[in-house]
Amino acid sequence: MAILVTGGAGFIGSHTCVELLNAGYEIIVVDNLINSKPEVIQKIKQITQRDFKFYQADLLNRSELEAIFESNTIDAVIHFAGLKAVGESVEIPLRYYHNNVSGTIILCETMAHYNVKRMVFSSSATIYGDPQSVPIKEDFPLSTTNPYGSTKLMIENILQDLYLSDKEWSISLLRYFNPIGAHKSGLIGEDPKGIPNNLMPYIVRVASGKLETLSIFGNDYPTIDGTGVRDYIHVVDLSLGHLDALKKIMLTKGINSYNLGTGKGYSVLEVIRAFEISTGQKVNSKITHRRPGDIAECYADPSKAKIELGWTASRDLYEMCLDAWKFAKQQ
Ligand code: NAD
Ligand code: WQD
Repeated sequence: MAILVTGGAGFIGSHTCVELLNAGYEIIVVDNLINSKPEVIQKIKQITQRDFKFYQADLLNRSELEAIFESNTIDAVIHFAGLKAVGESVEIPLRYYHNNVSGTIILCETMAHYNVKRMVFSSSATIYGDPQSVPIKEDFPLSTTNPYGSTKLMIENILQDLYLSDKEWSISLLRYFNPIGAHKSGLIGEDPKGIPNNLMPYIVRVASGKLETLSIFGNDYPTIDGTGVRDYIHVVDLSLGHLDALKKIMLTKGINSYNLGTGKGYSVLEVIRAFEISTGQKVNSKITHRRPGDIAECYADPSKAKIELGWTASRDLYEMCLDAWKFAKQQ
């Protein structure tokens, strides 16, 4: 059985490739490397001592994609490929809609043509907008506040319509909360280009002296200490969720959404403290104004994934910080 992994050289994709290979799956990776490095492919092979085919190709290039389906027997697709920077999506929305939405449409058309109708899709908790309450359940109202989030919601709707039109499809929509951490080996992890937008990559750059001070975006939210609360999840736990979703779509048809989070929220100050305690590294920080578009609190009710997929996250915040730091030190 071969699993096609789109975006497999990226942060979450690379960790999922490792877990798939460790579990004995055959994988094929397609990535245009727009936001990842070619070395990652070698690192995945080094960690797992397994070989696989890698295609540097763009999902928007229909003929390249068709050639991949023509020359391989693919049973299912795990679809990570997409652009993900919220701020950038506001500046260049058309690029985001084209890459994420058109890329997914071309992928689905190609899959249908080759009669491959099983997909695990990378969705996001961002489609819950500013939730009325927490923890967030899958049936909460959906809304978005930026083009990136809108691409995720549009793709979910497209996949719902696709299933309605053809009940042979089997699709899992995985709504990730805040993935952080890295593989235990320290060989793969999150390494954003330029100045990071997200909290943990910023923290590790301050701790390693590459950036001076972390700005804490507001301490006047109605939360435990006034700073924003999020559901941070270890990327390896998140990756393992894809294997459970894959098992389900291999056995049953239909379309289902699942929250992949820990169910526990931590504030920015709690994350900084956990990082300092677990790594022994000081993180210089200062309180600044709120970041436009941020919400106070966001954490999952992950019970649906537990009941229907048999999945739960097991790695705690200390482990997430330690693993992120181990990877950062090796860069
Ligand atoms: P990432 O940028 O590290 O990985 C995405 C990969 O897709 C990259 O390697 C990139 O080169 C590739 N890619 C992008 N467009 C492509 C295209 N048109 N053709 C081929 N390859 C293409 O991001 P990630 O953090 O690993 O996220 C993976 C997926 O999960 C994305 O769809 C993202 O939107 C989603 N997601 C991420 C987070 C997060 O916080 N990291 C949260 C929720 C959802
Ligand atoms: C976490 C907390 C910030 C940076 C984003 C996307 C979301 C999803 C995950 C893909 C917040 C605070 C951050 C900093 C700070 N991605 N913070 N100083 O905003 O929850 O989610 O990534 O789907 O769509 O929006 O994650 O890591 O940016 O922020 O104080 O330098 O840390 O205000 O409370 P966020 P984040």
